[in-house]
Amino acid sequence: MCGIVGYVGSQSALEIVMAGLKRLEYRGYDSAGVAVLADGGLAAAKKAGKFVNLEKELTERPLPTGTTGIGHTRWATHGGPTDANAHPHLDNAGRVAVVHNGIIENFACLRAELEERGHELGSETDTEVVAHLLAEEFSACADLAEAMRLVCRRLEGAFTLVAVHADEPDVVVGARRNSPLVVGVGEGEAFLASDVAAFIAHTRSAIELGQDQVVELRRDGVTVTGFDGRPADVRSYRIDWDAAAAEKGGYDYFMLKEIAEQPKAVADTLLGRIDAVGSLTLDEVRISASELREVDKVVIVACGTAFHAGLIAKYAIEHWTRIPCEVELASEFRYRDPILDQQTLVVAISQSGETMDTLMALRHAREQGARVLAICNTNGSTIPRESDAVLYTHAGPEVAVASTKAFLTQLVACYLVALYLGQVRGTKWGDEIHAVVRDLAKIGGEVERVLETMEPVRELARSLAHKNTVLFLGRHVGYPVALEGALKLKELAYMHAEGFAAGELKHGPIALIEDDLPVVVVVPSPRGRSVLHDKIVSNIQEIRARGARTIVIAEEGDEAVVPYADHLIRIPATPTLLQPLVATVPLQVFACELATARGNEVDQPRNLAKSVTVE
Ligand code: AGP
Repeated sequence: MCGIVGYVGSQSALEIVMAGLKRLEYRGYDSAGVAVLADGGLAAAKKAGKFVNLEKELTERPLPTGTTGIGHTRWATHGGPTDANAHPHLDNAGRVAVVHNGIIENFACLRAELEERGHELGSETDTEVVAHLLAEEFSACADLAEAMRLVCRRLEGAFTLVAVHADEPDVVVGARRNSPLVVGVGEGEAFLASDVAAFIAHTRSAIELGQDQVVELRRDGVTVTGFDGRPADVRSYRIDWDAAAAEKGGYDYFMLKEIAEQPKAVADTLLGRIDAVGSLTLDEVRISASELREVDKVVIVACGTAFHAGLIAKYAIEHWTRIPCEVELASEFRYRDPILDQQTLVVAISQSGETMDTLMALRHAREQGARVLAICNTNGSTIPRESDAVLYTHAGPEVAVASTKAFLTQLVACYLVALYLGQVRGTKWGDEIHAVVRDLAKIGGEVERVLETMEPVRELARSLAHKNTVLFLGRHVGYPVALEGALKLKELAYMHAEGFAAGELKHGPIALIEDDLPVVVVVPSPRGRSVLHDKIVSNIQEIRARGARTIVIAEEGDEAVVPYADHLIRIPATPTLLQPLVATVPLQVFACELATARGNEVDQPRNLAKSVTVE
């Protein structure tokens, strides 16, 4: 959950690192710090609070100019957000600096050993022990990469480490285990970062690091080994995001930009997936057709918004393939002793590809012999690397903590997986698959149309900014949409919000209805399962009769809802299973606007991080 940047080259390391950290601020922002090698020594600055506090510190007390440096933005796990706990952490001699993302589970015993050997540790963090251990090992071997390998072999837990030593002025060393780290390779310079957004302004050539690897950066090249020192095979790849893609592009918030990017994100995720004869070609899905034909159960594991995408995927997978599909919260999955075997296909959905709950769930699944397919938005991240196959969404960088375009592209990817299973298993004929793909190809335009009609939704949101709670109802695929709308409002407006299956109202929740309580109702198409449509219209009448303020999302042409809707939000008519792709958008806009009306920080909501890399 922290942001890490390292640089070695001929430019000002401070400028490169600070700009990179600025782009990673969303990964964690309760403190930040930098360290630069210059004049034979090491200089560092770090401050608690927002990134701007570090910028002010550096203005008042500039660091010397150097061409090697590291930096960090923190989301606290061990130790509160204080100056002392901010990274980088140094050894007592001030010759080693290290930044860290993750958790070192055995830091307490390592700290005790260090203190017995006379080291003085001043922070509450787990990270600080690494600085002292590196200093000890370096004093014996005089090689920072080797010192890092020796130290990593003693650490337990999940970590990305990046360090510098004043005695090696043109070297940056990194290491990773169960935590993100990517390498950028430029002309006479090299970069390390938690996320490519930190260096794509300088290079699009990247190297994917594997598990338990140490990377040594020098101006003239990059060396990667295992923790055991043996040379490691690495994969180079080209980053297809440009620098502008990670900027706000004129919007007040990254979230607004990312909501607006959804039509393109949906279209991009479909690109290249249909071959010349109209068949689906999911070339990253490195599971053979024969293996997929043996699948007798699908289990989807994910968290938060990604979990809601999985709930929607279940309807499509079961309807199109007739394979039983379970959807599990990743944090619960492995603790319930699930029944998995070679015939189980586990689908791990994750925007960041680093969510520890989801990563640990897929590891458990693989240990049980299941095959794992990842649906992920971040190239080179841990979850796809540890899966048997991956289908990348092409949403581009999603910077705002509240997931929007990643969610819509996860749905598209889930539909493609369901269709692909239907194709290889023969439960969907080619023309049926083509028909769905044609409908999917229209969705980008339909989302665009929805976005053009959002002003009444924004006005409604502002008018409800004083409310304490909003309920969300839906049926069928509209039920997970209701859950997602409630989550958006919770995480952005810090407001109580709850999603229900509309059929559950009479089993308890209807007791919550009181005068002027806002209730959002996602209405299924009357053209699909009309019985569901009629039932939810009855639900709307029931809550309205008890005083609710009904906010109804219904497709164009659905007149049955009009008499019972205090506010009517129209969406384009779509096939039943694809409706979430258009019904979710007004709920994203609603939550973002209401949060803005409340004066909340939309891109970085309190207590949340973009990627939850601890369990
Ligand atoms: C959703 O708006 C949140 N940001 C959060 O629920 C997120 O979806 C969840 O933490 C999963 O993240 P992932 O997709 O990166 O695995």
